[in-house]
Amino acid sequence: MKYSKRIESLATSMTLALSTKAKDLIKEGIPVLDLTAGEPDFDTPEYIRLAGIDAINKGLTRYTPANGTIELRTEICKKLLTFNNLDYSPNNVIVSTGAKQSLLNALMAICNPGDEVLIPSPYWVSYPEMTKIASGVPVTVETSYNNDFKVTVSDLDKYLTSKSKVLIITNPSNPTGAVYSKDELMEIANWALKNNIFIISDEIYERLNFVSQHYSIASFNEEIKNITITIGGFSKSYAMTGWRLGYCTANDDLIKLMNKIQSHATSCANSIAQYAGYIALKDEKNEIEDMIVQFKNRSNLVYDLISNSGTLDMIRPQGAFYGFINIKYFIGKKYNGLEINNASDLANILLDDFQVAILPGIAFGNDNYIRISYATDKNTIKTALERLIDLSKKVN
Ligand SMILES: Cc1ncc(COP(=O)(O)O)c(C=O)c1O
Repeated sequence: MKYSKRIESLATSMTLALSTKAKDLIKEGIPVLDLTAGEPDFDTPEYIRLAGIDAINKGLTRYTPANGTIELRTEICKKLLTFNNLDYSPNNVIVSTGAKQSLLNALMAICNPGDEVLIPSPYWVSYPEMTKIASGVPVTVETSYNNDFKVTVSDLDKYLTSKSKVLIITNPSNPTGAVYSKDELMEIANWALKNNIFIISDEIYERLNFVSQHYSIASFNEEIKNITITIGGFSKSYAMTGWRLGYCTANDDLIKLMNKIQSHATSCANSIAQYAGYIALKDEKNEIEDMIVQFKNRSNLVYDLISNSGTLDMIRPQGAFYGFINIKYFIGKKYNGLEINNASDLANILLDDFQVAILPGIAFGNDNYIRISYATDKNTIKTALERLIDLSKKVN
């Protein structure tokens, strides 16, 4: 008996696999400094945790409408208006089991078999695999380090074909930490409009923007809004990764399609998480802004350490909680007789000999870089990066 070729061709999530390996070593008592985390190191704030308990005690433990409770969708719309400058009705919002489900819903609603999905590289690890699940063809679009790995219209032109159907933009970016300016986004949006291409705008890190106000592509004008699916969530901004709560907004037709998928796939997002998310937005407390300030301070620490190392360099992280470090200095050199040909080799040496866990850029489409997450305390960040720099002085 044969299984699905499409699903067999998928890669497992390398980021999850490596962070699980680091966590397992820590459990075994090995003091690994873990810079792989894709989630805030902060606990879910207390007012949100209490809302979750409240939801259970109030009996909010049944199926909700497939697209989410009206209370939560209404609250999301208020936030969209004030924070994103986006005017949507609750009917144009679908609450989902994490932003991941919203992304998959969107790709499944848009793609016919063979349709091409333009994915600027370096990219978040799940986009190509999600595209394949949705029967699309992932097309990775090379970007340049000199432009902070932000995709431009001339990059996109090189990959445009009659099958190009949708472009995914991540802003702020995982894995690079780059943030697009309003003008850069506008140019990309107009290019998509001109070429009849949908945009999936993944704005899950919107609150973690250290350099400017956040701009949502869909807010530029009605035509652009009509071709854009905006993805948001609670995992990163509210430290709610395990609650699995995200959402998307889109035009009426796409919402209808995505509702169909979701109603058959999961019925609805978890009812308790939905109530907690509603309170997270409605009663937001200062601790959310405090978390954001801490991430910003850590981003400066990372940048200062790396750019003063004399061996390594990186683009200045402007948002999210990641740094993408250029490791060309290591390439072709040896440590203890082991040759370093790519970031994966470096990742193995760092873990085995220096007890530092990082992610090789291959997981994000570029193995000349490593991704470090600074969603951990400053001491861990500092010691881990000092070990990385120390290693750079020991290779020859
Ligand atoms: C760019 C990006 N989009 C989406 C997600 C998924 O987030 P969620 O936890 O809401 O599914 C992540 C999580 O790491 C991410 O980095």
